[in-house]
Amino acid sequence: MTGTSVLAILGSLSFAIAANITQHIITAAELDGIDLFSLPFASEALASIEQLYTPANQFSIPTAIRNGSRVDVHAHVVPPWYRVAVPYTAQSPTPEWSVERHLEFMANNSIRSSVLSISAPGSTVFPGSAEKSAALARLLNEYLAVLAKVVPKQFSFFAVTPLPYTDAAITEAKYATRVLGAVGIGLLSNHEGYYLGNRSFTPFFQYLDESPEGRKNIFVHPNAPCLHGEDGSLMDANPTPYPAGLVELYFETARTFMDLTISRTVANFTHLHWIVPHAGGAFPTIEDRFITSQSADVIALSKAAYRSRFWWDAAGPVFPHQVLGLLGYGVPSSRLLYGSDFPYAPPFSYAYEIAAIQNASFLDPAEKRSLFEGNIEKALGC
Ligand SMILES: *[C@@H]1O[C@H](CO)[C@@H](O)[C@H](O)[C@H]1NC(C)=O
Ligand SMILES: *[C@@H]1O[C@H](CO)[C@@H](O)[C@H](O)[C@H]1NC(C)=O
Ligand SMILES: *[C@@H]1O[C@H](CO)[C@@H](O)[C@H](O)[C@H]1NC(C)=O
Ligand SMILES: *[C@@H]1O[C@H](CO)[C@@H](O)[C@H](O)[C@H]1NC(C)=O
Ligand SMILES: *[C@@H]1O[C@H](CO)[C@@H](O)[C@H](O)[C@H]1NC(C)=O
Ligand SMILES: *[C@@H]1O[C@H](CO)[C@@H](O)[C@H](O)[C@H]1NC(C)=O
Repeated sequence: MTGTSVLAILGSLSFAIAANITQHIITAAELDGIDLFSLPFASEALASIEQLYTPANQFSIPTAIRNGSRVDVHAHVVPPWYRVAVPYTAQSPTPEWSVERHLEFMANNSIRSSVLSISAPGSTVFPGSAEKSAALARLLNEYLAVLAKVVPKQFSFFAVTPLPYTDAAITEAKYATRVLGAVGIGLLSNHEGYYLGNRSFTPFFQYLDESPEGRKNIFVHPNAPCLHGEDGSLMDANPTPYPAGLVELYFETARTFMDLTISRTVANFTHLHWIVPHAGGAFPTIEDRFITSQSADVIALSKAAYRSRFWWDAAGPVFPHQVLGLLGYGVPSSRLLYGSDFPYAPPFSYAYEIAAIQNASFLDPAEKRSLFEGNIEKALGC
């Protein structure tokens, strides 16, 4: 049987045996060679998914959301069992999250839909274990998918991808987009210390570029930097006393887009669209400097991609100064997207960042409206 027909059958089975979603998830994972029970919290995770899926568990959607005028491309989910496994994110406590609080946040800020994703460290919680990383990515994706099923108009999601395990990452991207309906792929700036231009990742990008499901959107999220010890262990690589979330994440974004450019991943795979976090972090600032080392064709193709296949989210305190700088590099305002970073943004204020966008003197009202809700439809190709 071909892979496609297995997927087709799985897709139709998902309705037939949805009555027991737990069994369905376990069976689908087994078909992909994933042992969910390699994780100590697998049963708890499955129970949380089943609980969300319970038909009685209807979430009421306030009018403020239905009438909302914003789409949030940078919004995170923190399943309770994930928060226990990951008590700190980039050296700050991992925030609490619930569907109800997320909906309340959306209502408060006039957000009508959110593209959900998992923040750092994503599936990279068990360095060196392909088995556990694949299992964690799968459980997180099933969790995200069930949210998009129970709150279908308001939630969609970017899939978690278990790189650096390239084969597992291809399997997961296939399942998450074809079976679970992910609208794009989530990647981290580094996966276990390896940046996205790493040559062993090329087959993954090639798969995405050639896969038949139309445009592939890749949402990149910064991860904390780390180094490899001689014994293969991963060591924290934060060189300053300040939390990585405050400083290093910007440099991480710069490192990985530089690596993607120099490896020619950006130039070669022309169907891939990139959603760049935090208006590029420190990347735009170093663009002209690092790119001079490249050949004329790589410079031309990459710079063209930054303006046409790159989409820049406005999560965090990026208005007005940082975005003004980004536009100075020739990025059109039609490539800007709204992102909240909920629930990870504090100490930055969601309302203040929205006000700063509304306040920007260098965008006209139509450009601001598109930033909040029109550009994203073009970015996702829907
Ligand atoms: C669903 O399947 C799981 C795993 O086989 C089982 O433990 C659970 O009792 C089933 N739940 C229901 C409601 O049948
Ligand atoms: C929501 O939008 C509808 C239709 O435009 C309008 O009639 C209604 O007053 C709005 N409700 C709120 C709370 O803004
Ligand atoms: C929503 O706004 C209310 C009223 O200002 C506030 O009490 C609540 O904490 C807010 N909730 C979220 C999740 O932002
Ligand atoms: C690329 O990633 C692989 C693991 O997938 C690693 O062995 C290799 O050292 C990495 N290469 C570089 C240049 O970091
Ligand atoms: C991109 O293509 C060039 C040749 O056209 C090749 O040398 C390079 O290795 C490719 N890079 C990737 C990441 O595919
Ligand atoms: C909005 O602009 C005014 C005038 O330039 C400024 O005083 C105020 O601080 C700005 N508010 C935000 C949230 O950017």
